[in-house]
Amino acid sequence: MRHPTCPGAYLYCMEIINGNSTAKIIKDEIAQEVQSMIRSRLRQPHLAAILVGSDGGSETYVAYKIKDCKEVGFRSTLVRLDEDVTETSLLEKIGELNQDPDVDGFIVQLPLPDHINEQNVITAIDPCKDVDGFHPVNVGKTVIGLPSFISATPYGIIELLKRYNIETSGKNCVIVGRSNIVGRPLSILMSQKSINATVTVAHSRTKDLKKVCSEADILIAALGSPEFIKADMVKEGAVVIDVGTTRVPSTETKSGFRLKGDVKFDEVAPKCSYITPVPGGVGPMTRVSLLSNTMIAVKKKC
Ligand code: GUN
Repeated sequence: MRHPTCPGAYLYCMEIINGNSTAKIIKDEIAQEVQSMIRSRLRQPHLAAILVGSDGGSETYVAYKIKDCKEVGFRSTLVRLDEDVTETSLLEKIGELNQDPDVDGFIVQLPLPDHINEQNVITAIDPCKDVDGFHPVNVGKTVIGLPSFISATPYGIIELLKRYNIETSGKNCVIVGRSNIVGRPLSILMSQKSINATVTVAHSRTKDLKKVCSEADILIAALGSPEFIKADMVKEGAVVIDVGTTRVPSTETKSGFRLKGDVKFDEVAPKCSYITPVPGGVGPMTRVSLLSNTMIAVKKKC
């Protein structure tokens, strides 16, 4: 429906969800809690990261994680292993971190080199220190609604919906993408009793994807295909959450690349009630959720 006095605009009042400012609020909450722990003479929360090799993207993500730790007063440790490290050596390092009482939680940055079996690595992490929430024990607990570490992107998206008071109960939620890290866990969370959405998980074999998407009250694009979601796939007034962060070359940035979302923002945004931008939407929430999970690990709540 078009706006009566402004023919170019839709009737809905569109709001851009600000992931940066929401993440900053959560970060400040965590920083305050850390300060009060230190005042009570408790030790600093400690997050460790294992980085195998020197993939450009992984280096950047791990550097952000370390920066985030510093900003909230966490201790952080980066364990660097050579690209050609054996799976056995990596598993030994994981065993050490599992046993180290000074480490509250840790992650192994993915992807790993081809000669290492990712699932063996994830399964070797103590579920109580698995702040990525990738261990089958944590995934299983999430499925049946027990306290668990929830992987950072789904956790961040749920937090955004809550903090923006977006109605989810009875809403038709379509998630495009079924990855173990985002689409699948998010589909579980969105259908839980506290959220109460009716969930469809769409994927590459879904028939008439345009029709499926255009029936969504909440459309979550997590397929990793830049600008895949166009205006004709979106219902007027929908809430659109863009999880895409594909790096594309750019001459306009110092790094030589910029991030592109899965949603064609300029044409989709005018139809939405809420939409997350890329960058500045889901990304900062993913980062802060790792810190939230580390606080949960500190309190031994999972
Ligand atoms: N690679 C891309 N995203 C992630 C993440 O959330 N955790 C880890 N460990 N590796 C990643």
